[in-house]
Amino acid sequence: MTRHFLRDDDLSPREQAEVLELALAYRDDRFIRTPLTGPRAVAVLLDKPTLRTQVSFGVGIAELGGYPMLVDGRLAGIGVRESISDTAKVLGSMVSAIVWRTYGQDRIEEMAAHVSVPVINALTDQFHPCQILADLLTVAQVRRKQGGVAALPGLTLAYVGDGANNMAASYLLGGATAGMHVRIGTPASHVPDAAVVADAAAIAATTGGSVQITHDRAVALAGADVVATDTWVSMGQEAEAAEREAPFVPFRLDAEALALAAPDAIVLHCLPAYRGKEITAEVIDGPQSAVWDEAENRLHAQKALLAWLLEQQ
Ligand code: NVA
Repeated sequence: MTRHFLRDDDLSPREQAEVLELALAYRDDRFIRTPLTGPRAVAVLLDKPTLRTQVSFGVGIAELGGYPMLVDGRLAGIGVRESISDTAKVLGSMVSAIVWRTYGQDRIEEMAAHVSVPVINALTDQFHPCQILADLLTVAQVRRKQGGVAALPGLTLAYVGDGANNMAASYLLGGATAGMHVRIGTPASHVPDAAVVADAAAIAATTGGSVQITHDRAVALAGADVVATDTWVSMGQEAEAAEREAPFVPFRLDAEALALAAPDAIVLHCLPAYRGKEITAEVIDGPQSAVWDEAENRLHAQKALLAWLLEQQ
């Protein structure tokens, strides 16, 4: 059966650990496995702005021996010029996998329902699961001496900022899958989707992790091993930028906030970052920041994910 990666919990805890182990191996040797040698093509469909996503998938697919076919969503007009199901049938006859950055999660679910090659979510309004794989890889890399991927269960990951966005939802699901204690610090007006919180709690109950939603930045960050934030204005929300600032100011990741976390806490941000808004320059450019490794790890994590999904075909 074709496996897709549409949300973080499409990988079981064991499968997520396998992908992360392979990603660590790719970090050490970028050509350890080249399952797309042929070259076989992978379509990378981009409906929203992108830098890391198009470069990391483009480079990664090439390093796997394949050919990345980058498609500008404005030209393709998926769901507008032609239906998603027709697009799926056309692409499925030509490529070995489909990577898609788009708007609604329903769009990527419809694509996956009509195709027999793996579909990978490269960000939707609801989830950003490839980013969370890269984030977990970054933590495993920093904790290599303590066991790497095996060191993830039991760590506390605190995310402060917009709790209603794709990153918060993916931290909940992906962090719970990894057996972490995930805390979301967010204003009451921007809480995560209740169904996602329930799903994450159910996963956490099986992995030894936990999930907590709090409206107090200090509660979220107290003693945390990993601290993360994200923009207050996600792609598609640009028109609301002015009113999206005030509610999040108390959840800014500044030096005072970071001091509440564990002394060796690592700082993550998926980028692009807005210094002085959700994070201060002192924190993102400071000694605890792992954001450049985190960005590079998109490449290694996605290569491992693609290789793993292709193996299940
Ligand atoms: N929440 C952000 C993530 C960017 C990688 C957005 O959707 O724009």
